[in-house]
Amino acid sequence: MNAKRQEKIKITEVGPRDGLQNEKISIPTEIKKKFIDLLIESGLKNIEATSFVKPSAIPQLSDSAELSTLLQPFPSDIHFSVLTPNEKGYHKAIEFGYKEVAVFTAASNSFTKKNINKTIEESFTAFREIFKLAQKDGIRVRGYVSTVVACPYEGWIAPEKVLEVVDHLVDAGAYEISLGETIGKSTPDKVEALLNLLLKKYPAKIFAVHFHDTYGMGIANVQKSIEMGIRSFDSSAGGLGGCPYAQGASGNLSTEDLVYLLDTQGFDSEISLPKLAHASEYMEKILGRELTSKTYRAILKSKD
Ligand code: HMG
Ligand code: MG
Repeated sequence: MNAKRQEKIKITEVGPRDGLQNEKISIPTEIKKKFIDLLIESGLKNIEATSFVKPSAIPQLSDSAELSTLLQPFPSDIHFSVLTPNEKGYHKAIEFGYKEVAVFTAASNSFTKKNINKTIEESFTAFREIFKLAQKDGIRVRGYVSTVVACPYEGWIAPEKVLEVVDHLVDAGAYEISLGETIGKSTPDKVEALLNLLLKKYPAKIFAVHFHDTYGMGIANVQKSIEMGIRSFDSSAGGLGGCPYAQGASGNLSTEDLVYLLDTQGFDSEISLPKLAHASEYMEKILGRELTSKTYRAILKSKD
């Protein structure tokens, strides 16, 4: 085990949103609430709870209002966030008392058109009002950029393209930019090339990395990101996840794998791996399929 590091790290648990948005079976709202409770019990503090999007676009999360009601009152030490693609979503989020919303665009026009029916340029116009309202309401806005390395429709994406989108989101007022590696094709050399460019202009502290684990590269990409100074990571319990508008995208990097790596490197995630695995096991039973996280599976085995 490495010496303890004093630096703070941030984990954003996206399981209830990114993790569940692509599941085949319909998951009752009470189950989602229980899943979130178990995630909180494991020590997670930043949780992306759901999204306020067009219900037909993401039917799995069309119960976002009901879930938000069940989550009341929000525990004072938990930071919930929700995805809001437009003003309509923003107003709903505010109605339920969320203090953080996330807007999402991409570095590829084909993907963002499929995902939110807007070009990248049009997405900025749609977000402008959200940023304006958020500033007035004291709401934090996180900006996602999807397809930062590869796009399912356009192939490899140039880091310069990502920088352009980051520039827009930072200028608009995003407090953190989550770099979405949507289809999990990246390898550490590509992460290095991207971060090399972004970190010439911006401090590492404004970025989070959001890896999907389709090719099993998620944790290697996290390691490279740590080496380059990134301290904010998105992940989902058990490796749940996928995006319906990104063919071939499998689950997110798993929170168990992330926590195992961070803690063995001397960071203090303040997360209990057995409790986290309990949350994943709960969802695994509901979903009726094996979750893929290696660390999660190892923890289950060690209980036998
Ligand atoms: P649109 O069809 O262009 O929207 O969709 P519209 O403004 O023309 O409205 C059409 C209908 O949708 C209207 O209803 C609106 O009221 C309704 P009608 O009058 O026909 O009855 N509508 C809404 N209803 C509820 N809440 C709303 C809302 N907005 C409109 N907020 C839109 C455009 C952006 C709305 C749609 O494409 C959409 O909701 N997309 C969301 C897609 C999504 O959630 N994708 C997954 C998340 S992104 C992701 O997973 C990547 C990430 O993880 C990072 C990574 O891995 O890269 C973040
Ligand atoms: Mg994602």
